[in-house]
Formats: sequence, structure tokens, C-alpha cells
Amino acid sequence: MSAVHWSPNLSIGVEDLDSDHRALIEILNALDAEVAEGAGHGAVALKLDELIVRTEAHFRREEAIMAREHYPEAAHHARVHEALLEEIRQFRDEHRAGSAIGPEITAFLKRWLISHIIESDKHLGGYLEGRGVG
Ligand SMILES: [Fe+2]
Ligand SMILES: [Fe+2]
Repeated sequence: MSAVHWSPNLSIGVEDLDSDHRALIEILNALDAEVAEGAGHGAVALKLDELIVRTEAHFRREEAIMAREHYPEAAHHARVHEALLEEIRQFRDEHRAGSAIGPEITAFLKRWLISHIIESDKHLGGYLEGRGVG
């Protein structure tokens, strides 16, 4: 999958969350490039760990805003986050056990992130805009 680029149509109107999304897209592009170039196990492992740490931090930040602003779909949204984290941790564990990370995995993660931003995070962004939070 070719590199995905952040563009204004991915903005959810909250600067901190947009900048997290940009960073996550860049990590995924870097992981994708490493996989395509056949980078070593250690390099890919580091990138996977970075992806997990940054994704956890982003989800916690987003969930804190949802809680503070009494977002009605907060619980469901958080469960969707947790399910994705479980999948990434599983990829990480399989990789640690010796499996290769293939391009289908990075393509899946990119698709997941972009569709989550467009379908779920933008919905949150609209709600926050309605409350005057930006
Ligand atoms: Fe989200
Ligand atoms: Fe998000």
C-alpha cells in the first residue's frame, strides 16, 4: 500500500487530536516502508512498539476529552479503540514469536486508522464543535 498522507479532509477540528493522527499516519508509513524494504526484525519490532505506545497515548487523550465533554458514544468509541489495540498487540506478539509483518498487516492498519478518523473521530469532532470545543 502506498504511503497515506494526512490532508485537511481528515481534520476533526481539534488540533491536538489532528496532530496525533498525523503522527500515527507517519509511523504507519514508516512501518510500511520498512516492511516493503525487508528491514530487519529489530527495526520492525521497534516501530511496532512505537506504534503501540503512540496509539495508546492518543486513545487515552481522545477518551479523556470524550469523558470531560460527556460524549454520549464514549463507551462504544473506547471499546472500538481497545479492540484495535488488542489486534496491534497481537501482531506485536506474533512478530516477537518470529512471524513476519506483511504488507497486508500495514495496509489493514492504515485502512483502519483512516476509516476510524472519518467515521468515528469526525463524529466526535462534530459533537465537540457543537459544544464550542475546538
Ligand atoms: Fe477514536
Ligand atoms: Fe483518533
